Amino acid sequence: MVPVFDAAAVLAAVSPADANAIVREAFERHARGEWEMPAKVYVDAGPEAVEASGAPGDFRAMPARGGGLATLKWVTSFPGNSAHDLPVVTGALLVSSSATGELVAILECASVTSLRTGAAAAVSASALAPESAATVGVIGSGVNGVFAARALAAAGYGAGVCCDVRAESAEALAAELGWQVGDRAEAAAQDVVVTVTPGHEPVILAAELRAGQHLATLGADAAGKAEVERDALARCRLFCDEWRQASGGGELSGAAAAGEVGPGDVAELGPVLLGDAPGRVGDDEVTLFDSTGLAIQDLAIAHAVLGAWREGRIEAPNVRL
Ligand SMILES: NC(=O)c1ccc[n+]([C@@H]2O[C@H](COP(=O)([O-])OP(=O)(O)OC[C@H]3O[C@@H](n4cnc5c(N)ncnc54)[C@H](O)[C@@H]3O)[C@@H](O)[C@H]2O)c1
Repeated sequence: MVPVFDAAAVLAAVSPADANAIVREAFERHARGEWEMPAKVYVDAGPEAVEASGAPGDFRAMPARGGGLATLKWVTSFPGNSAHDLPVVTGALLVSSSATGELVAILECASVTSLRTGAAAAVSASALAPESAATVGVIGSGVNGVFAARALAAAGYGAGVCCDVRAESAEALAAELGWQVGDRAEAAAQDVVVTVTPGHEPVILAAELRAGQHLATLGADAAGKAEVERDALARCRLFCDEWRQASGGGELSGAAAAGEVGPGDVAELGPVLLGDAPGRVGDDEVTLFDSTGLAIQDLAIAHAVLGAWREGRIEAPNVRL
């Protein structure tokens, strides 16, 4: 019998503040070598996705192991789906015991993804933004932009400026958090700026960068996507979640492919959190954290959901497979 956790159960189990704490711990455990994570595998969805949704899509298989559990997230990115009222991100997180190999849970994965993606932005800001940073700009107030804003608010940041090409998305997020709606340039001028667009065009411009800002770029999580003008990277001290993944399919992948940025130019967040690598070196720097989304972040959420279930805080139907 395997418990199946739907999105409501996942979100009832883990608050944005909880996610911030456990995702930070996941980065630290991974950096210490306690949690392991083989490379993420991309599977192109092929012409069917283009025909059905008008845009390419892909599947991602993301395995991780740590703390007695092994997880595999099978998740999509079908950006064209939003025009057809279908989810961009969908799939399941399989959770197995690393003691017996038995499958112990199945989790709805868009909720897991949103919680841990938003948390990565907040963890990066707490580690890399100057002490004085307060205000937030959210560029792209869709599914994951909402969770990034919630995570930053839970970490004590705000007020904020929410921007989206769909005005109603920015308005809904601003209303939820008591923040303002603004245009792209207004959002990009805030102390902490999180970008969560599909990554088709730059939304962070070199000429607009200001000393002391922290940028968390979340939207570019596959090759060919970027949210930051290439010239802006030279002004930033660069960080990523994992160089292997970020250089192949993140904000930095274009610059990495062009030989403009190499592993020596970019620090991973986990060692920074442990104090094993330098973070921000001065208040006048601009820091940029390239998040591509790590399987260990999903593993952290799985631990928290199972913990809440075992404590009786959430319920889930059991299925016999
Ligand atoms: N780094 C990670 O861990 C991670 C995790 C999940 C998703 N993502 C990526 O984040 C991106 C967003 O995913 P989502 O699920 O939130 O999608 P979504 O469609 O729900 O949200 C994207 C939002 O960006 C808005 N937008 C598009 N172009 C814009 C622009 N130029 N300026 C302002 N807003 C703009 C859209 O209107 C939409 O509301 C995708 O590329 C996805 O692959 C990254």
